[in-house]
Amino acid sequence: MFGDAAEHERGLLSRCIEVLESSLSSNDERTYDTLLPLYGRLDVLRGQEEVKRKANEQPASQHDCVTHEHVRAAGPTGVDYDRLVRDFGSNLLDPSDLARIEAESGEPLHLFLRRGLYFSHRDLGSLLDAHARGESFYIFTGRGPSASMHLGHLVPFQFAAYLQRAFAAPVVIQISDDEKFFFKGLSLADAAAYAADNIIDIIACGFDPQRTFIFSDTQAIASLYPMVMQIQRKLTCGQLSKAFGVKVCSACAPEGDEATDCVGKLMYPAVQMAPAFASGLPPELFGAGGGAGQKGRKLATKAPRCLVPMGIDQDPYFRVVRDAAKGLGQPKPAVIHNKFLPALAGLHTKMSASAGEAIRLTDTPKQVRKKMRSAFSGARGDGSLSDHRRLGADLETDVAIKYLQYFLPDDAELAATEAAYAAGTLTSGEVKDKAAAAVSDVLARHQQARALVTAGDVALFTTVRPLI
Ligand code: TRP
Repeated sequence: MFGDAAEHERGLLSRCIEVLESSLSSNDERTYDTLLPLYGRLDVLRGQEEVKRKANEQPASQHDCVTHEHVRAAGPTGVDYDRLVRDFGSNLLDPSDLARIEAESGEPLHLFLRRGLYFSHRDLGSLLDAHARGESFYIFTGRGPSASMHLGHLVPFQFAAYLQRAFAAPVVIQISDDEKFFFKGLSLADAAAYAADNIIDIIACGFDPQRTFIFSDTQAIASLYPMVMQIQRKLTCGQLSKAFGVKVCSACAPEGDEATDCVGKLMYPAVQMAPAFASGLPPELFGAGGGAGQKGRKLATKAPRCLVPMGIDQDPYFRVVRDAAKGLGQPKPAVIHNKFLPALAGLHTKMSASAGEAIRLTDTPKQVRKKMRSAFSGARGDGSLSDHRRLGADLETDVAIKYLQYFLPDDAELAATEAAYAAGTLTSGEVKDKAAAAVSDVLARHQQARALVTAGDVALFTTVRPLI
């Protein structure tokens, strides 16, 4: 009964808001006075629905689930990253690691590092030691072309472009069209079309045209294949089925589920692992001996080591290939992990093109503002302004605050916003509008950069050539 009444009220409220939004201009004073209490009430109703939905969920979802295919956190504060680091056996990035990155690169730390959004690593210390000795490294990351890109996808590419600038390092970007063919059931033609579109967005993230190589698996497979085979001979079906949740026999499948997975799901992982070794890539990229020069240092003679920046859901690939590295006579790739940009609906999952609403890279400021207003709010109390002033907000569950942490450049402004919101001085609507403005700035810059990418740029970035 209660559910129906709440749903009815939510419907009415949404319609009122829509009508008001379309009749008031955004810089009209009355916008805040009229709309904010309504947004607040809508948040409360949504929060109640969320609590009810959670109560009805199966107990199996009491733990976070983070795999290369799905991310789902058990609680409203999102994934427990400390626990994930323990479970995965990686290391938390600590202040001394950050100081080393800053000292070794000679550049100020990226805000994703300052704010703990990149938070975990493997072997970063030894990679930086090698860099200090004049040895070079390259950066490897990638994208599965299953849709057009959204705000969450900018994070790893912006970060890879920063690492490239900071260390003058070559970057290799894999477009895994084969992965989306096997795992998402896309046609090869659709994967190719998304790949072409995604490559333009990736170039727009600011990579150095002289030092960046972008390739799709179906096109580059001939040069990857010898290393793919070397890796595949070291891995067993059991190991891959465990690391990637691939069902290899119906007897091991959950009860009632007779279907096993297609063999491509067992074959693909080595394709994502091979580029983590310099000798798995076309030999032209790193020249004789694989020595790409680093800023202000003599040319290295050894094959460069690899650093993989990625969302922590991609860790299984690199955990497995690091174990195989010694047997293959290859250096272990170092990795650095980022936290997920939360979905608008809340921190229980990441922003995704397939589930819920995402902020697209093509969105206008108006669309961003509207989407941001629907974001899950950590404001406490019954949604009234008086309650908010008295009780403040829970920053740990608030989506707009998380987006500000990723996209508001000014540290002092972020700290002041967080303090005022937690104390109830700033309202949820005001914080959402601030987040919308910060995101729109990022998108405006991205859209301008994307408009400048030419077919010639794409041809250059995708050509096999020395990355000096
Ligand atoms: N598997 C990633 C995805 O689903 C794409 C990807 C391919 C990738 N190669 C990578 C990510 C290397 C990080 C590092 O989007």
